[in-house]
Amino acid sequence: MQSSIYERIGGGPSVSAAVDLFYQKVWTDPALAGYFDDVDRNRLKAHQRAFLSAALGASERYEGRGMREAHAGLGVTDAAFDKVVTHLAATLAELGVDEATIGEIAGALAPLKADIVQPAPAPLTEARGLRRLLRMPRLKRPA
Ligand code: HEM
Repeated sequence: MQSSIYERIGGGPSVSAAVDLFYQKVWTDPALAGYFDDVDRNRLKAHQRAFLSAALGASERYEGRGMREAHAGLGVTDAAFDKVVTHLAATLAELGVDEATIGEIAGALAPLKADIVQPAPAPLTEARGLRRLLRMPRLKRPA
Protein backbone atom coordinates (compact mmCIF):
# COMPACT_ATOMS: atom_id res chain seq x y z
CA MET A 1 0.00 0.00 0.00
CA GLN A 2 1.24 3.50 -0.81
CA SER A 3 2.05 5.56 2.29
CA SER A 4 0.07 8.72 2.98
CA ILE A 5 1.59 12.21 2.61
CA TYR A 6 1.29 12.42 6.41
CA GLU A 7 3.58 9.41 6.87
CA ARG A 8 5.97 10.50 4.13
CA ILE A 9 6.65 13.90 5.71
CA GLY A 10 7.26 12.41 9.17
CA GLY A 11 3.88 12.23 10.91
CA GLY A 12 2.76 14.18 13.98
CA PRO A 13 6.07 15.88 14.91
CA SER A 14 6.47 17.22 11.37
CA VAL A 15 2.90 18.52 11.24
CA SER A 16 3.39 20.24 14.64
CA ALA A 17 6.59 21.91 13.47
CA ALA A 18 4.90 22.96 10.24
CA VAL A 19 1.87 24.47 12.02
CA ASP A 20 4.11 26.46 14.42
CA LEU A 21 6.25 27.88 11.62
CA PHE A 22 3.21 28.45 9.39
CA TYR A 23 1.39 30.62 11.95
CA GLN A 24 4.61 32.45 12.75
CA LYS A 25 4.56 33.57 9.12
CA VAL A 26 0.82 34.20 8.90
CA TRP A 27 0.55 36.17 12.15
CA THR A 28 3.49 38.44 11.28
CA ASP A 29 2.24 39.14 7.76
CA PRO A 30 0.74 42.65 7.94
CA ALA A 31 -1.72 41.74 5.19
CA LEU A 32 -3.16 38.88 7.28
CA ALA A 33 -2.65 39.70 10.95
CA GLY A 34 -5.98 41.53 11.30
CA TYR A 35 -7.96 38.40 10.58
CA PHE A 36 -6.61 36.75 13.75
CA ASP A 37 -7.01 39.62 16.25
CA ASP A 38 -9.81 38.05 18.26
CA VAL A 39 -8.84 34.42 17.89
CA ASP A 40 -7.74 31.93 20.57
CA ARG A 41 -4.41 31.13 18.90
CA ASN A 42 -3.55 27.98 20.86
CA ARG A 43 -6.92 26.48 20.08
CA LEU A 44 -6.54 27.42 16.41
CA LYS A 45 -3.12 25.74 16.24
CA ALA A 46 -4.51 22.57 17.81
CA HIS A 47 -7.39 22.47 15.31
CA GLN A 48 -5.05 23.20 12.42
CA ARG A 49 -2.76 20.32 13.47
CA ALA A 50 -5.72 17.95 13.54
CA PHE A 51 -7.17 19.28 10.29
CA LEU A 52 -3.91 19.12 8.33
CA SER A 53 -3.11 15.67 9.68
CA ALA A 54 -6.48 14.34 8.54
CA ALA A 55 -6.21 16.17 5.19
CA LEU A 56 -2.80 14.57 4.60
CA GLY A 57 -4.07 11.08 5.26
CA ALA A 58 -3.45 10.46 8.98
CA SER A 59 -5.88 8.21 10.79
CA GLU A 60 -6.40 10.97 13.37
CA ARG A 61 -9.88 12.45 13.26
CA TYR A 62 -10.58 16.17 12.88
CA GLU A 63 -13.38 17.26 15.17
CA GLY A 64 -13.36 21.03 14.64
CA ARG A 65 -15.83 22.96 12.54
CA GLY A 66 -16.10 22.54 8.79
CA MET A 67 -14.23 25.08 6.65
CA ARG A 68 -17.32 27.04 5.55
CA GLU A 69 -18.56 27.45 9.11
CA ALA A 70 -15.11 28.19 10.63
CA HIS A 71 -14.48 31.03 8.16
CA ALA A 72 -18.01 32.45 7.99
CA GLY A 73 -18.11 36.20 8.58
CA LEU A 74 -14.33 36.66 8.41
CA GLY A 75 -14.46 38.19 4.93
CA VAL A 76 -11.40 36.21 3.75
CA THR A 77 -10.43 37.52 0.31
CA ASP A 78 -9.08 35.60 -2.65
CA ALA A 79 -5.69 37.30 -2.20
CA ALA A 80 -5.57 36.43 1.52
CA PHE A 81 -6.28 32.79 0.72
CA ASP A 82 -3.47 32.68 -1.83
CA LYS A 83 -1.08 34.31 0.66
CA VAL A 84 -1.90 31.73 3.31
CA VAL A 85 -1.26 28.88 0.88
CA THR A 86 2.03 30.54 -0.13
CA HIS A 87 3.08 30.71 3.55
CA LEU A 88 2.22 27.04 3.95
CA ALA A 89 4.24 26.05 0.88
CA ALA A 90 7.24 28.12 2.10
CA THR A 91 6.94 26.50 5.54
CA LEU A 92 6.98 22.99 4.10
CA ALA A 93 9.95 23.84 1.86
CA GLU A 94 11.87 25.19 4.87
CA LEU A 95 11.19 21.95 6.71
CA GLY A 96 12.65 19.95 3.85
CA VAL A 97 9.47 18.65 2.18
CA ASP A 98 10.17 18.04 -1.50
CA GLU A 99 8.57 20.17 -4.20
CA ALA A 100 6.39 17.42 -5.64
CA THR A 101 4.88 16.71 -2.22
CA ILE A 102 4.29 20.43 -1.59
CA GLY A 103 2.47 20.54 -4.94
CA GLU A 104 0.32 17.60 -3.86
CA ILE A 105 -0.53 19.28 -0.54
CA ALA A 106 -1.37 22.61 -2.19
CA GLY A 107 -3.51 20.69 -4.68
CA ALA A 108 -5.35 18.94 -1.87
CA LEU A 109 -6.12 22.28 -0.16
CA ALA A 110 -7.04 24.30 -3.27
CA PRO A 111 -10.66 23.07 -3.44
CA LEU A 112 -11.23 24.51 0.07
CA LYS A 113 -10.99 28.00 -1.38
CA ALA A 114 -14.66 27.94 -2.35
CA ASP A 115 -15.64 27.43 1.31
CA ILE A 116 -13.06 29.72 2.94
CA VAL A 117 -13.32 32.79 0.67
CA GLN A 118 -16.65 34.36 1.50
CA PRO A 119 -18.05 37.87 1.05
CA ALA A 120 -17.67 40.46 3.82
CA PRO A 121 -20.06 39.86 6.69
CA ALA A 122 -23.57 41.25 6.55
CA PRO A 123 -23.22 43.30 9.78
CA LEU A 124 -20.80 45.60 7.94
CA THR A 125 -23.49 46.41 5.43
CA GLU A 126 -25.98 46.96 8.24
CA ALA A 127 -23.56 49.26 10.05
CA ARG A 128 -23.13 51.32 6.90
CA GLY A 129 -26.89 51.67 6.63
CA LEU A 130 -27.02 52.77 10.26
CA ARG A 131 -24.33 55.41 9.74
CA ARG A 132 -26.23 56.80 6.80
CA LEU A 133 -29.31 56.98 8.97
CA LEU A 134 -27.40 58.81 11.70
CA ARG A 135 -26.19 61.39 9.20
CA MET A 136 -29.76 62.32 8.36
CA PRO A 137 -30.39 66.05 8.75
CA ARG A 138 -31.65 67.03 12.18
CA LEU A 139 -35.33 67.44 12.56
CA LYS A 140 -36.37 71.04 13.13
CA ARG A 141 -37.68 71.87 16.58
CA PRO A 142 -41.31 72.75 16.57
CA ALA A 143 -41.74 76.52 16.75
C1 HEM B 1 -6.05 26.13 3.03
C2 HEM B 1 -6.39 27.14 3.77
C3 HEM B 1 -6.95 27.07 5.18
C4 HEM B 1 -7.15 26.00 6.01
C5 HEM B 1 -6.85 24.53 5.76
C6 HEM B 1 -7.71 26.52 7.24
C7 HEM B 1 -8.04 25.76 8.34
C8 HEM B 1 -8.61 26.24 9.49
C9 HEM B 1 -9.00 25.44 10.64
C10 HEM B 1 -8.81 23.93 10.75
C11 HEM B 1 -9.54 26.27 11.56
C12 HEM B 1 -10.10 25.88 12.94
C13 HEM B 1 -11.59 25.64 12.88
C14 HEM B 1 -12.19 25.44 14.27
O1 HEM B 1 -11.72 26.04 15.23
O2 HEM B 1 -13.17 24.70 14.40
C15 HEM B 1 -9.49 27.63 11.00
C16 HEM B 1 -9.92 28.75 11.65
C17 HEM B 1 -9.62 30.04 11.25
N1 HEM B 1 -9.09 30.41 10.03
FE1 HEM B 1 -8.50 29.15 8.58
N2 HEM B 1 -7.84 27.88 7.13
C18 HEM B 1 -7.37 28.25 5.90
C19 HEM B 1 -7.32 29.53 5.37
C20 HEM B 1 -7.55 30.68 6.10
C21 HEM B 1 -7.34 32.04 5.61
C22 HEM B 1 -6.90 32.38 4.19
C23 HEM B 1 -7.63 32.88 6.64
C24 HEM B 1 -7.57 34.39 6.71
C25 HEM B 1 -6.77 35.11 6.00
C26 HEM B 1 -8.04 32.06 7.77
C27 HEM B 1 -8.42 32.54 9.00
C28 HEM B 1 -8.92 31.77 10.03
C29 HEM B 1 -9.38 32.33 11.30
C30 HEM B 1 -9.37 33.80 11.72
C31 HEM B 1 -9.84 31.24 12.07
C32 HEM B 1 -10.40 31.27 13.49
C33 HEM B 1 -11.91 31.43 13.45
C34 HEM B 1 -12.51 31.38 14.87
O3 HEM B 1 -11.94 30.77 15.77
O4 HEM B 1 -13.60 31.96 15.02
N3 HEM B 1 -7.97 30.74 7.41
N4 HEM B 1 -8.93 27.58 9.76
